[in-house]
Amino acid sequence: MTDVQDRLEKTPVVPLVQADDTAIAIDTSRALAAGGLGVIEVVFRTDRALECLAAVVRELPDLVAGAGTVLTADQARAALDAGASFIVSPGLDDAVVKVAQDASVPVYPGIVTPTELQRAVNLGLNVVKFFPASIAGGIPALRALSSVFRSVRFMPTGGVSVGNLGDFLSLPSVLACGGSWLTPADAIKAGHYERVTELASEAAGIAKNSRG
Ligand code: 3PG
Repeated sequence: MTDVQDRLEKTPVVPLVQADDTAIAIDTSRALAAGGLGVIEVVFRTDRALECLAAVVRELPDLVAGAGTVLTADQARAALDAGASFIVSPGLDDAVVKVAQDASVPVYPGIVTPTELQRAVNLGLNVVKFFPASIAGGIPALRALSSVFRSVRFMPTGGVSVGNLGDFLSLPSVLACGGSWLTPADAIKAGHYERVTELASEAAGIAKNSRG
């Protein structure tokens, strides 16, 4: 088991950090850590996402920081150069997977269908993102997939919220859940980082109850 996977077992909630300013990325990540979450995903959805990732890696070394929304092999290489501890993609792309595997860094590509999952398994993966979880069938779909792909663990994201987090985490096949509900843009814009900490703490509590 990788260190990242080990940390995900302990704090199985992965908040998305979307920022175009390094100070905001650091403050958001610090607020999440203060709420008890140890793994964050800096998403490549802004022009300065790479700088934000590098800043979080540098300033908050106790956090495990990965790169999300990684669409190309070049982005994956840049994320690794910036110090990403893991790579997340919305879909399954062999070249992205290979960059991470060659660097021995965990990679969690998004899958929905059995065909995509079989391909991921045959690329050597045993943890995948299940995205978009709520639209792609939610818990019944995960149960069906895991009855066939018995050694695979899933990271559902997309529509996960405080209302369904406990249900997802109660499935043994779910390694962790990801989502943006922990980092509301309006609270961050207003500088209300205590709200981020509250949400993180609430999620950490739910995770603890679901995992016993
Ligand atoms: C992701 O990239 O994982 C998704 O955008 C998360 O979906 P959410 O915004 O519904 O949490």
